[in-house]
Amino acid sequence: MTNVLVVDFGAQYAQLIARRVREAHVYSQIVPSTISAAAVSALSPGAIILSGGPKSVYETPAPSLDPAIYELGIPILGICYGAQLMAQQLGGEVARTGAGEYGRTALTRSGSSVLLADWPESSTCWMSHGDAIVRAPDGFVVTASTPEAPVAVMEDATRHFSAVQFHPEVVHTEQGQALLEKFLYHVANLSPSWTNTSIINEQVAAIRAQVGSERVLCALSGGVDSAVAAALVTRAIGSQLTCVFVDTGLMRKHEGDQIEETFTRQFGVELIHVKAQDRFFDALAGVTDPEAKRKIIGELFIREFEAVARDLAGAGDGPRFLVQGTLYPDVIESGSGHAATIKSHHNVGGLPEDLSFDLIEPLRSLFKDEVRQVGEELGLPGEIVWRQPFPGPGLGVRIVGEVTRERAEILRNADFVVVDEIKKAGLYRELWQSFAVLPAVRTVGVMGDGRTYAYPIIIRAVTSDDAMTADWARLPYDLVERIANRLIREVEGVNRVALDVTSKPPGTIEWE
Ligand code: XMP
Repeated sequence: MTNVLVVDFGAQYAQLIARRVREAHVYSQIVPSTISAAAVSALSPGAIILSGGPKSVYETPAPSLDPAIYELGIPILGICYGAQLMAQQLGGEVARTGAGEYGRTALTRSGSSVLLADWPESSTCWMSHGDAIVRAPDGFVVTASTPEAPVAVMEDATRHFSAVQFHPEVVHTEQGQALLEKFLYHVANLSPSWTNTSIINEQVAAIRAQVGSERVLCALSGGVDSAVAAALVTRAIGSQLTCVFVDTGLMRKHEGDQIEETFTRQFGVELIHVKAQDRFFDALAGVTDPEAKRKIIGELFIREFEAVARDLAGAGDGPRFLVQGTLYPDVIESGSGHAATIKSHHNVGGLPEDLSFDLIEPLRSLFKDEVRQVGEELGLPGEIVWRQPFPGPGLGVRIVGEVTRERAEILRNADFVVVDEIKKAGLYRELWQSFAVLPAVRTVGVMGDGRTYAYPIIIRAVTSDDAMTADWARLPYDLVERIANRLIREVEGVNRVALDVTSKPPGTIEWE
């Protein structure tokens, strides 16, 4: 498989570039800027892309690149910081001009160019630089400039080196994706062979090789990652797989049924559906502290899962492997390139020593959007594949105060209404999360002739890229009104509706 190495000079830039390369159907992998030429050789990449980064090449220390990498004969594209570093290391000149460019900038072409072959004479690119390349190294031809960047694009056709000062990976650069594709297909001569089908075939083969004839266990949480991981393992070795779904009583409406429908009836997989609601509600009785609730839910989940695993082991032919839905960003963020820590989501990492498993992580080279596409290709229903993130402790972190059966039922019904209306309005995929929250107060209302004393529901809808920060979603008022009317009419126990207009920070997305 052809591989493009994206050298990381600033994590967000590198991830975005890696995703764009994959959108061009070429596999990409992020490597640290400290990588040696020998390590690069060992990976035998088809091309290298040097990412942008927050530093200036004049800062000390500024991240650099092993100069022997330029001697390997591998095509290289430098972007922003990566472009300046190339210019500096290959004998050109980078200057602190004092006049940087930030945001949309007009780009003017000059000379004949492979990268910009189909570009008009002038176009718009996205810049973010203080320093500028003022002289290209020997062997390079300058093929575009901007008012403050005399060398905005430079190309060396002999060595297959290119450098661009702007950011082709951001959507504000017109034709940015086209430029990346020009580099991949025409400068580096790579072919677009990384597709959902190739991902699936490769993972299926890897899982078969890893597992042999052993048995495999997988915990389904109702979320996208565990479902896609399970579907991939099903495709590979379905008859050796046992899935476990622990119903905590804090799942979304119809979640358990949908998992059963998909995995038992559609995929024909052995599914153990643990109906543990009573044990969860008993353990949560009287508990109001948010962290205490999380802890109880997390620990009880592990105990329930452990009981199933022990039963299976006790029956002789116990599972040796455990499926984990670890994604590529988890692997990158763990730094070591090795996701040693098991995801906290429905944490099954707290299993006792004697119940140790070898891990199968079929999604560890994929980004979230790729996981969704693979899921669709594997035939998972859109409702599972496009689901918004849902916290491990489920509705438990959206019920302020005591979690009881009755209160969980009110919230589940309310959540269903909120999500249903958001979907009907066509906003579900646009929003990071949209859900209902149940506070611990009741308020007075009037319905018909009678006075009511019931719970308010809070509508929480946010936009976000990664949940680290979030903004409250400006839902249309007529949609808010439809949700409010339905909540009060359809959900018993609710007589008032409020809208949460807090961003993160200062708020968190969840209420507890
Ligand atoms: P907050 O509320 O901290 O949430 O802004 C950020 C993201 O994390 C999810 N979340 C959790 N996920 N276990 C989880 O697996 C948890 O205890 C938990 N708490 C919050 C939340 O849904 C949001 O996407």
